[in-house]
Amino acid sequence: MLYPELFKQLEAVRWNMEKDIPWDQFDAAKLTDEQAQTIKMNAITEWSALPATEMFLRDNQGDSDFSAFMSVWFFEEQKHSLVLMEYLRRFRPELAPTEEELHEVRFEFDPAPALETLMLHFCGEIRLNHWYRRASEWHTEPVIKKIYDTLSKDEARHGGAYLRYMKRAIQNAGNEARAAFTKVGVLMASARRTAQALHPTNLHVNQALFPRDTVQSRLPNPEWLEHWLDQQIKFDAVWEGKVVERILHNLSLLMDRSFKTVQELNRYRKEITREQAAAAPSAA
Ligand SMILES: [Fe+2]
Ligand SMILES: [Fe+2]
Repeated sequence: MLYPELFKQLEAVRWNMEKDIPWDQFDAAKLTDEQAQTIKMNAITEWSALPATEMFLRDNQGDSDFSAFMSVWFFEEQKHSLVLMEYLRRFRPELAPTEEELHEVRFEFDPAPALETLMLHFCGEIRLNHWYRRASEWHTEPVIKKIYDTLSKDEARHGGAYLRYMKRAIQNAGNEARAAFTKVGVLMASARRTAQALHPTNLHVNQALFPRDTVQSRLPNPEWLEHWLDQQIKFDAVWEGKVVERILHNLSLLMDRSFKTVQELNRYRKEITREQAAAAPSAA
């Protein structure tokens, strides 16, 4: 079981909402309305850990270790939402999300293969770590800069925890896990070639609710994410490259093979698919 050790590790570095956020350093002159608005959207997006947890628990009923770890992940993600809301409550109360706005992102996700979802969220944590690092640089008000910096470190640790479960999946399921991770890895590391930001909150997850079946589409301003990335925090090709590099680096360690480009990863994915086909009992 990984849960006891992950619990201990995350407990040891856990920050305190009252003591570790320098609330008394708030500088009103350094927060624009435009910046405050983005904090609201991030607070609601973080709240979507709620439906994601419901999905994880439903799709991992055979895995009590991972399900137990969800308690830690869920707690920390809800805390991310809460600290952003606390910031708004103190300094821009008119922008604090309402309970209805939060509840709007709680909707059912269609069942999905557990290994692919795990990899999707691993990549999501890496991406969010980088987005929040950029957000911390973009913001000018010291308290919110510190909050985004704090959140970005949590997201990196979440990625690390998911990676432990991915390692375990390769030990248990071999090529089935490799195939799932490389498939999603190729997709998630190809963001530069797609128009839309590749994050779990930006993917369609319920066919019956289409097109309002992404977390982002259910925000008060569904267009904010692309604007935040392109115009505000300016998440450019250099930053995108860092995300891709982290995904490829971790997959290289995981698969014990070096992937310098998405193309190399894709070649390996095809290799695994061929091995799987060869190992499968003949249909004839
Ligand atoms: Fe988070
Ligand atoms: Fe996270």
